[in-house]
Order: sequence, then C-alpha cells, then structure tokens
Amino acid sequence: MRILVTGGAGYVGSVTVERLLAAGHGVIVVDDLSTGHRAAVPPEATYVDLRYGDVHAMTRAFVEERVDAVLHCGAKSIVPESVADPALYYHENVIGGIGLLDAMVAAGVRRLVLSSTAAVYGLPDIVPIPEDAPLRPINPYGATKASLESAIRWYGVAYGIRSVRLRYFNVAGASDRNGEMHDPESHLIPLVLAALEGGRPVTIFGDDYPTPDGTCIRDYIHVLDLADAHLAALEATAPEDARTGPPDGSEPVALNLGTSDGYSVRAVLAAAERVTGTPVPHRVGPRRAGDPPVLVADARLAGAVLGWRAMRTDLDAIVGSAWEWRRRHPDGYRV
Ligand code: UFG
Repeated sequence: MRILVTGGAGYVGSVTVERLLAAGHGVIVVDDLSTGHRAAVPPEATYVDLRYGDVHAMTRAFVEERVDAVLHCGAKSIVPESVADPALYYHENVIGGIGLLDAMVAAGVRRLVLSSTAAVYGLPDIVPIPEDAPLRPINPYGATKASLESAIRWYGVAYGIRSVRLRYFNVAGASDRNGEMHDPESHLIPLVLAALEGGRPVTIFGDDYPTPDGTCIRDYIHVLDLADAHLAALEATAPEDARTGPPDGSEPVALNLGTSDGYSVRAVLAAAERVTGTPVPHRVGPRRAGDPPVLVADARLAGAVLGWRAMRTDLDAIVGSAWEWRRRHPDGYRV
C-alpha cells in the first residue's frame, strides 16, 4: 500500500511511519513542521512540506504519489492550548480536516484512519469507557475531534470513504528512533523526566480526587503498541474487508486504544524513580481545570476487530523507554 501520513513528523505519526515502512508499505509524510520535526521522518519515507488542509495541493499530492490510504495524525492536540485558543483548533482540526477529506474525494482516495482521542468522551459515566459511551467533550480539542469523526461518518455514507477512528488514551514511551518532544510540554511523563534532568520540579495537579492515592488515574499506552494498531486499522479499510462496515461506509469503526489498566500520577512518579534510581522533585498544586479523575479504556473492541491488544503494558517499561530515548537524544531533534 502507498500510505500518506499527515503529521508524520510528529510523535505518534513518526513512530507509526517507522512501523508502516517496516511492514513494507510506501509512506508519504505530509507535515508543515508547525509542531513536528523534519529529523523524525525516516529517510525511506517521501517527505512533502504541505498543509493537509490545502485541498488543491493535497489533491495533486494524492494523484502524483498514487496514494491508496490516508493516516490522519496531523492535528493540534494540546488541551490547555485548545481552551485558550479554540479558533486555532477549529481552523486546524475541523476546517483543515474537511479540506483533507475533500481532497481525498477529489482524488478518489477512499481509505482513512483517523487519530482521535479519549478527549471526545469528556467526563465518562462508566469506566472503563466503552466506545458507545456518549461523546460529551469538555474542551475544544475533544470537541474538534468529535466534529471531524462525525464529518468522516457522513463523508463515508455519501462518498464511500471507509474509515477507522482510533481514540487514543495517554500515549507514552518511544521507539529507538523517535520520542516525545513538545514545545511547550504539557504531558506528565516528559515533564517528570525533564524534572529528573534538572528541569522544573513536577507539580501534581491535585491530590484530593476520589482515587486511592488522591491523584488522577490514566491509561498509559506505549507508542509502539499504538503504531501496531494503526497498521492493523489501515489493513481493515480494504474495500473487501467486512470489518469497516457495510459497503457504503455508513458506520465507521471507532476503537479505543489503551491498555485497560490505570495508573495514578503518583504511580507514574514512583515508576520514574524506580527506572532512574533518583527521586522526582515535585510538589502538590491545585487541580487542573477539566481533568477527569479516572480515564481508562475498555479496549476489548480493538481486540475483536483488529486482533490487536497492547503488549508493552508494564508502566516501568513504558517510562523506561521514554527515559532511554531522552538519554540517547539529549538535544531532542536539534542537530
Ligand atoms: N499532570 C500533573 N502534572 C503535570 C502534568 C500532568 O499532575 O505537570 C497530571 C494531569 O492532571 C493528569 C495526568 O497527569 O491527571 C496526565 O496528564 P497529561 O497532560 O499527560 O495527559 P491528559 O490525561 O491530560 O491528556 C491526554 C492527552 C490528550 C487526550 C487525553 C485523553 O494529552 O490529548 O489524554 O485521555 F485527550
């Protein structure tokens, strides 16, 4: 397959590109490097400096590169940034995403896997969260992903796009080559590791939640497991594959990607201490707005549909792989 990956210079995108190449697929990375890193794109992939929402340029790229399927990882994805600047998120994630769909229709590309998020669920009534839980996002990031999921459904009905929507829980860890490097960073594990490297002490956002140790519980999934799921999802969008619904594509598959295990913020700090042998400098601060106490995936459907399950579920191993990557790339992607 020739697979075009938007956001292929980003964290999840670049690790997935490695996996697709290893499986023998041709990969075209589209990334404007607004948050991605050129050095994250393996040399075996074709790199195109484009905005995925540019309908005309993308239509041309689909035709010229003879693209069979799209993996849409490109997006703005920082929750607090989305609250401060919803316009940016609606323009990039929704309007840009519709531009991508229009280009797919224009070029006759009818296979799509979307990077979506557990943020579409908001504050869940049931944990572990099943995919048929109501979508009630509590921030613009989750709302824009839910909008794009809905657009994909109706584009599927009308234009026959077969799709899988992958709802990630808390992605962590690294491959040998690529890891997590955001600027500014807001995610727990990179901030914990930065604190161990002499950066700012970690602030635990609240220890008065209704959880055993009072801190929030999340489902941390290794980015390599996520990459495996993307490969399986892309294969499931083949025209003859019954897993991506009826032939008109009216019921696109939505799958949670998580481990179904939850770890508290304090458990993550303890794992980092075990991995590095060093205490994590930290303090307890107030709650962060919009943090649900517990977010854990019911990931059984991904197992049933894709034959996939997370294999690298040990928290120490997940944190350890992120630590190892930082040690081997002390300057991140700067050369
Ligand atoms: N946390 C801290 N201190 C920090 C950073 C985070 O205590 O400095 C806590 C948060 O309050 C939360 C947990 O660590 O309880 C994880 O926080 P992250 O910011 O790493 O991740 P989130 O759970 O907020 O969000 C992530 C992704 C979203 C996605 C969501 C869905 O960043 O894109 O998971 O589960 F939508």
